[in-house]
Amino acid sequence: MIRLAPSILSADFSKLGEEVSRIERAGAHVIHVDVMDGHFVPNISYGATVMKSLLGKTKLPFDVHLMIENPDKYLEDFMTDQTEYITVHQEACPHLHRTVQHIKGLGAKAGVALNPATSLSVLDYILPDVDMVLIMSVNPGFGGQKFIESALRKVEELKALKERGGYDFTIEIDGGINLSNVKAVTDAGVELVVAGSSVFGAEDVAARVGEFLAAF
Ligand code: DX5
Ligand code: ZN
Repeated sequence: MIRLAPSILSADFSKLGEEVSRIERAGAHVIHVDVMDGHFVPNISYGATVMKSLLGKTKLPFDVHLMIENPDKYLEDFMTDQTEYITVHQEACPHLHRTVQHIKGLGAKAGVALNPATSLSVLDYILPDVDMVLIMSVNPGFGGQKFIESALRKVEELKALKERGGYDFTIEIDGGINLSNVKAVTDAGVELVVAGSSVFGAEDVAARVGEFLAAF
């Protein structure tokens, strides 16, 4: 099953509770939580306090995308009953195997994200351990950027690795996804689709969620 994870980075923070209920009612599956530290990426977003303020406002699971240095220090902060995935960047984790085990030990599913210029080969020895691989289709840091086409080939190659190895990790994509390219990425093997500006920037957010679901 293909799932939609709207990124609240592009939501109106002054009424975040309403924004998440709206996408939940419209049928979105997961809430994508973009955490940026101003070091790993050149932007600061929000932290665990903002995410936790949504507990009670939505029943949707959280998909936490940590674009931060030293993620190990903060993993516990993001662990809640609704936390499904915690994803760290390979580029930020010198001891990735340890970090992945740490996430699983907390009771979440462990994801690893790759920047557009990072090869899939860095995952060679960790693929059997991960629950999700997040292919970045923009350079992380900002919503509303243009989809980088090479991400499509990366997804296809990742899907082939998954099938060859008999793995069951989820393939996620994040960055520049809209109604024109969503079919191409799901055809290539994406199972969890992040969309920020194309969902929350729409005039009718609920209708846009419906359009995404219809495109799956
Ligand atoms: C980018 C973030 C994305 C972002 C996606 O650094 O990781 O999740 O919110 O936004 P769009 O869909 O607008 O590219
Ligand atoms: Zn993200």
